[in-house]
Amino acid sequence: MGTKRQLKLGAILHGVGGNISGWRHPDAITDASVNFELYKKWTLKAEEGKFDFVFIADGLYITEKSIPHFLNRFEPITILSALAGISSKIGLVGTLSTSYSEPFTVSRQFGSLDMISGGRAGWNVVTSPLEGSALNYGKTEQQHPTHSERYKIANEYLKVATGLWDSWEDDAFVRNKETGVFFDREKMHTLNFSGDYFSVKGPLNIARSKQGQPVIFQAGASESGKHFAAKWANAIFTGQETVEEAKQYYDNVKKRASAFGRKPEEIVIMPGIGPIIGRTVEEAERKYEEIANLVSIDKALDFLGRFYEHHDFSQYALDEPFPDLGDLGKNSFQSATDRMKAWAKAEQLTLRQVALRVATPKPSFIGTPESVADKLQNWFEAGAADGFIVGSATPKGLEEFVDQVVPILQQRGLFREEYEADTLRGNLGLPFPENRNAKGEQYILQ
Ligand SMILES: Cc1cc2nc3c(=O)[nH]c(=O)nc-3n(C[C@H](O)[C@H](O)[C@H](O)COP(=O)(O)O)c2cc1C
Repeated sequence: MGTKRQLKLGAILHGVGGNISGWRHPDAITDASVNFELYKKWTLKAEEGKFDFVFIADGLYITEKSIPHFLNRFEPITILSALAGISSKIGLVGTLSTSYSEPFTVSRQFGSLDMISGGRAGWNVVTSPLEGSALNYGKTEQQHPTHSERYKIANEYLKVATGLWDSWEDDAFVRNKETGVFFDREKMHTLNFSGDYFSVKGPLNIARSKQGQPVIFQAGASESGKHFAAKWANAIFTGQETVEEAKQYYDNVKKRASAFGRKPEEIVIMPGIGPIIGRTVEEAERKYEEIANLVSIDKALDFLGRFYEHHDFSQYALDEPFPDLGDLGKNSFQSATDRMKAWAKAEQLTLRQVALRVATPKPSFIGTPESVADKLQNWFEAGAADGFIVGSATPKGLEEFVDQVVPILQQRGLFREEYEADTLRGNLGLPFPENRNAKGEQYILQ
């Protein structure tokens, strides 16, 4: 009897939340974004719920209009390293940008996190949409690479990172006190990479962990983003709102992956959701209204502006059609801004309507624990998702999901009751990557 396909779950740990005014909710802990005790509690709760991983998002540029969570939050590798020490099975995934970092440093950081955690590290590769990021790295906004160049850099970056991670074969460190042999010279490999953006000799000064290499996550939604994800990602975050859109994305990316000679089951596709759960549908709706009503229209305009290079939307009439912005947004959050422009056109929305929809999105997963579980099952069985990354739309969202929805998924045989493995790769059902040097393959650069 074959093993039944089960869904995968990740939890976004996002401090005071993605809602611009969520910190004012009666249940919100106002310093949540820098509250280590809370991050520990959430991680242990997600591990109790047998989640595959916790995820820490990141960005590199803030202004006074950024959402409260972005203003004052933990750097991902640092918090994940601390969380590694208090957890034992759950994966630890963090965002790090390939546009403003060096591959030697980052491969080393994720390699270390992977070793510290015993093979539980994951890297969400992002390319930094905000041009203001350049100002924090000794460049002008005009020097912020274009959307397509950012993906070219990321592609070369991943060649270097995955190459560096194979610097040492798994049995390279002999550590024989008798003979005085610490390592086998034949099993140490120098990368000698020289490309358009990076030049890295290697070897990396950390060996592979139990899971071989950290798991690569990505969230590309534009054409170049999907291409990149299909080529490199082991797991993909997506942002579709309907099962039809999610299925289209799922089929598209899995097909692209086959073109790279990859097997569809080697990529786990996980839509991001922010479920709201109530004892009744009415209670869940009330919870949504409560959080939505905290957001003023001025705050909603600020939130919207960030997607368009912090454009000032207060200059337009609120109840007139959504303004024509030309290409603004194309070079930053391309897929998100394209989508907003398309809704506004198709549904003839005003600026107020777009701003409120973006700032206080009504989750598609809202209702009783059973109805939310039904919908997760429906997406999963329709071939629109391999799992979900669960954000907290309300301050207690994660606890409610673990206590009320996970047991239903387990009863239905859709989710594990115990971890299958103690590595992230193992739990996600991903194959162990053989060291390319050990396989005798010369590291081939495509
Ligand atoms: C669940 C999820 C998590 C994401 N986390 C981050 C993040 O931490 N930092 C970031 O800059 N972008 C993040 N993104 C956005 C993506 O990196 C990417 O910018 C977006 O999906 C648009 O893709 P594109 O660049 O191909 O247009 C996330 C997207 C999703 C769906």
